Amino acid sequence: MARASLESRILHLRICCFVMLILCLIGIVQMFASYGKYDYPHTARVDLSDKLFTGVTPFVTPKKSVPDCTYDKVLENKKSYHPSEVARKHDNFSPKGIMNGSYTPEECNPLFSVAVLVTYRKRQNQLDTFVPYMHDWLRKQHLHYKIYVIEQQDEKPWNKGMLYNIGAKYAIADKFPCLILHDVDLLPLDEGNLYVCMKEPRHMSASIDKFRFVLTYDTLVGGVLAMRSEQYLLVNGFSNRFQGWGGEDDDFAERIHSRKLSIQRFPREMSEYTMLLHHPEPKNSDRARIMYENKQHISEDGLNSVMYESVQVKPQRLFTLIQVKL
Ligand code: BGC
Repeated sequence: MARASLESRILHLRICCFVMLILCLIGIVQMFASYGKYDYPHTARVDLSDKLFTGVTPFVTPKKSVPDCTYDKVLENKKSYHPSEVARKHDNFSPKGIMNGSYTPEECNPLFSVAVLVTYRKRQNQLDTFVPYMHDWLRKQHLHYKIYVIEQQDEKPWNKGMLYNIGAKYAIADKFPCLILHDVDLLPLDEGNLYVCMKEPRHMSASIDKFRFVLTYDTLVGGVLAMRSEQYLLVNGFSNRFQGWGGEDDDFAERIHSRKLSIQRFPREMSEYTMLLHHPEPKNSDRARIMYENKQHISEDGLNSVMYESVQVKPQRLFTLIQVKL
């Protein structure tokens, strides 16, 4: 009897091991099969122009001598770069037309004004690659834009949410109707990736080489996000409570949904980015708890409650530097 029971247990164990092995194999096969092919819900390329949010600052005066800029050619452009083709150094970069990080096209009247907010601390090499790359990218797209670099100057834990809030205050005071919140280590690869806001918040970096070009989860808004300034005000910006790496963007996604806004994306083949290498930042192990507590506090914690020791604004040729001590 005992022997029969032992045999049946061994058989049971063998079946379990076999099933697990099969499941693992299926997982591995699926992982390789989906490499670079993963897709997510998005706005179709043909519908994009109707979903864009147009608007320029009052400081851009249209010229009668030139036509309005058009953007269809950018959206239709299917040229895409492999990460290895992306130049890390820009020795021949020309700053023509750029002043204080801002550029206005001469050849036509732009329909979009965009503030690019870049949060930053001690990543000089990445900044040196990012800034000229983005100027070349943005000038080609006939946009009026300005790059703000918001630098955390102290040794306190990194607080990206608060830096974005401070940058947003300056960009909104400069009357930019659209904000692009941009990690300094991400560079766009697809020429069709027009750097503008949609009517709803737009997650731009949906397909990053570091993550095998896979969107890791539907509510991800980290990396590069474009959002109308009035929507940034509506969600009261980012929580100021996240210190260290991670969580502030997931909390921001909650804010977006709580205000009945939805997250939009361009198609996968227009949303590819390469990530510049860097050492990982210390993770915020409290992020899930803070996010849970924050659900009831959107109106008290955010853009309206930013506290810092000092801020200095230093306009430079290629960007406006906002140095902050928190
Ligand atoms: C973090 C986010 C981060 C995401 C991307 C999450 O665990 O909370 O802040 O953007 O991972 O990998």
